[in-house]
Amino acid sequence: MSQKPFTAEEINPLGSLDEWEDDLLERYPDPEQIASAKSTEAYRNYEEPARDTVREFYRLNHTYQTYAFVKEKQRQYLSFDKKEMAIWDAFEFLNQLVDDSDPDTDLDQFQHLLQTSEAIRRDGHPDWMVLVGLMHDMGKVLCLFGEPQWAVVGDTFPVGCAYSDKIIYPEFFKDNPDYNDPRYNTQYGVYTPNCGLRNVDMSWGHDEYIYQMMKDHLPEEGLYMLRYHSFYAWHREGAYDHLLDDHDRKMLKWVKLFNPYDLYSKCPTPPDWKVLKSYYTELIEKYLPKTLKF
Ligand SMILES: [Fe+2]
Ligand SMILES: [Fe+2]
Repeated sequence: MSQKPFTAEEINPLGSLDEWEDDLLERYPDPEQIASAKSTEAYRNYEEPARDTVREFYRLNHTYQTYAFVKEKQRQYLSFDKKEMAIWDAFEFLNQLVDDSDPDTDLDQFQHLLQTSEAIRRDGHPDWMVLVGLMHDMGKVLCLFGEPQWAVVGDTFPVGCAYSDKIIYPEFFKDNPDYNDPRYNTQYGVYTPNCGLRNVDMSWGHDEYIYQMMKDHLPEEGLYMLRYHSFYAWHREGAYDHLLDDHDRKMLKWVKLFNPYDLYSKCPTPPDWKVLKSYYTELIEKYLPKTLKF
């Protein structure tokens, strides 16, 4: 059964990918800044029109991220036969994702990656975690391969089993065909109790894609950070315990450790790239191959 082509509004409901991340900040405000002017402003924004586009974004995400859709995207992308780039070219490629909604205040994708990695480095975490910070959103290049925003960003969740009501806007799952499919709508669906997240298919997006790209190059803790950084229903809300195994439970603290750096490291002043370049060149050489396959 083929899906009718998506309209432009269905492909890109958000003015920019940042609208999803701004929404995350409203849902999970920085505890350290909660009383400051910055977060007051964030709360004020909550009722602004971006709210409607974020809602529409989630409606599309929850409606179309079916088990079959995820399997199809895995087939399409996990052969990594689209493009091969040196890493610095890959950052430039990613930066073609321009946010036209608010060009004055939004930093480009690379700046967000660098601010995340620098915040991790400042706190003295291992160098592989700094590299996780630098790479974690590289998967957003999926947008540049023509994927709709709702198949690139947004909170992720398991497909192939019942949806948790801890996922944002759970009511939108009612329009997902899997919601009424007896293969997929029971607590375990296609899975077995405590099978471990590695055996669970997540909704398709930039997390899974970058995890698969990096999986031979980083330690397990770092790979969990990449693979589940948008799985808020798990790392923030504690859902899906029935699918976890002990390994997942051990890894959860690393995913939680990473999350604040992703959410709370944004600042309007871009890091001084000239000063940082040699450190990152060495770091990349230490862990990654000369080119990355997309
Ligand atoms: Fe991300
Ligand atoms: Fe991020």
